[in-house]
Amino acid sequence: MCGIVGYIGKNNAKEVIIDGLKRLEYRGYDSAGIAICKDGGLEVRKAVGAIVNLEQVVADPAFDGPVGIGHTRWATHGVPSEVNAHPHTNEDNTIAVVHNGIIENYVEIKEELIREYGIEFRSETDTEVIAQLIGIYYDGDLHEAVNKAVAQMRGAYAIGVIAAAEPDKIVAVRKDAPLIAGIGKGCNYIASDIPAIMERSRQVYFIENDETIVVTADKIEIFDGNNKPVEHEAFTVTWDVDSAERGGYDHFMLKEINEQPKGIEETLLRRLDEDGNIKLDGIELTKEDLDKINKVCIVACGTAYHAGLIGKYAIEKMAKIPVEVDIASEFRYRDPFVDEKTLFIAISQSGETLDTLHALREAKRKGARVLSVVNVVGSSIARESDDVFYTWAGPEISVASTKAYTTQLTIMYMLGLYMGRLRGAIEESYYQRMVSELKEIPAKLARYLEKQKDVKRIADRFHRDNEMFFIGRGLDASVSYEASLKMKEISYINSFAIAAGELKHGTIALIDQGTLVVVLATQDALFEKMLSNIKEVQARGAYVLAVAKEGDTEVEKQADEVIYIPDCPDELTPLLSVVPMQLFAYYVAKARGCNIDKPKNLAKSVTVE
Ligand code: M6R
Repeated sequence: MCGIVGYIGKNNAKEVIIDGLKRLEYRGYDSAGIAICKDGGLEVRKAVGAIVNLEQVVADPAFDGPVGIGHTRWATHGVPSEVNAHPHTNEDNTIAVVHNGIIENYVEIKEELIREYGIEFRSETDTEVIAQLIGIYYDGDLHEAVNKAVAQMRGAYAIGVIAAAEPDKIVAVRKDAPLIAGIGKGCNYIASDIPAIMERSRQVYFIENDETIVVTADKIEIFDGNNKPVEHEAFTVTWDVDSAERGGYDHFMLKEINEQPKGIEETLLRRLDEDGNIKLDGIELTKEDLDKINKVCIVACGTAYHAGLIGKYAIEKMAKIPVEVDIASEFRYRDPFVDEKTLFIAISQSGETLDTLHALREAKRKGARVLSVVNVVGSSIARESDDVFYTWAGPEISVASTKAYTTQLTIMYMLGLYMGRLRGAIEESYYQRMVSELKEIPAKLARYLEKQKDVKRIADRFHRDNEMFFIGRGLDASVSYEASLKMKEISYINSFAIAAGELKHGTIALIDQGTLVVVLATQDALFEKMLSNIKEVQARGAYVLAVAKEGDTEVEKQADEVIYIPDCPDELTPLLSVVPMQLFAYYVAKARGCNIDKPKNLAKSVTVE
């Protein structure tokens, strides 16, 4: 995730900024840069990779100065590169901008700037558009120019801006992306996050949406969306650095679980056009292309593989194209039937999983068109694919994948609906209803996350168990696999997931008095069958924890305990039902005293076979 740090005072800005950027390193980034005001002009230096690379390129005294803005970039528009790294400047390098977030109408603004002013863009980013736009409006008053530019921008962002001709100020704006101003002695700061400046300032202003700040060495002025000055009370930061990095959560996993409404929203809403229809980020997938395809092959590992299982369901149901889902390490060695009529979809959070990368190469060699669903821009899988559909989950730091999974699911539904509509395989009314139901998911999930209390209580009761079972049918079976993986990888409990109908073919022999069986029963069409499965395991003494949709009260009569998720169509329940399962694993692991964010024997990115 991108990070912003700005400093204005008497000290050397680059030192303060480098220090601040290092404090944000834990969030992940691919490049970094700093701009300073110097001798009536601006100096900008950038580097790809670690902050130490940036440290080297700013080391010489020619880059000393008391005012500057810096940035760590997590690529969204354009590959990680020096030219795409921030700060970005306008044409004559008199305005520099750092930016977190996304400008939704940047293409529109860019085209206008090219058409009306003949501006030549240097990068692929949406951020450069902001710098160029402010440059057009600049007439000696940076605050005014920023206001004019912001009035034209749509999206969610925080920006920091400096101008060569006004080296006594930094102007910054917040719109749906975090921004703070830190109060110093004879100096002031801006930042996207508290950890960036908390070693230097513990008195901060939280900037609200649509507010602009004008920061000089001795004052911080805040203006509301109507450009009226407003006062905020300064907040005193009392947290330690570690807890500030986790945004106040005990673990990154819990933070990332709570970021899921935002992740789904980013992934979905930014891919809806003005009429509310799904667009695929410029990926050319026409009806003719789809007519040439006779099957889809989804390949991934671990949690991403579980997302692929839901992808199979979504694409088969909505686009009516046969789908095979494979574990990458299996796919590679089974000489799979893949040819130029195959659409190959690789799913990977990191984009670096070696088995998935090799499977992708194998599919390419056989002539398949390769589309990847990846979270890390510019990663190996993204670079080697014909098309990339990014999950905009932001960096996932905890080894246990949570928000990557739900954003991958979101993309699976989007692909299914997009292809189904293009092929005429679904009714327009179904398409419209599903898109509108998908749009409701972030709010439903946020509502669930606000209220959930039961999960911790139940986890505290079962955390000493040595084994657990997760069962479900249809989509619930796929979510059971993910629930079980979460449990085993962070709590080290021997958990097992199985399609509920398979129980009686062997596994039921393991169910004993007091065995915990988590029953996912969210599918209306399979509800009665699941009630029978509940009876079946209870007859062997199992304790049943059910997950059901609000309103399905019948399950209460059967199960020992029920967790309710908000109501939604059967097709979309995995987006909601997995969340109590993630929380259940989290609280069980916590009660067992496990190292939740870094479980034993596991790595975040598996780059070995
Ligand atoms: O980066 P990827 O999505 O390719 O990683 C695949 C798996 O290694 C990953 O999902 C793993 O299963 C997670 N740790 C599970 O939480």
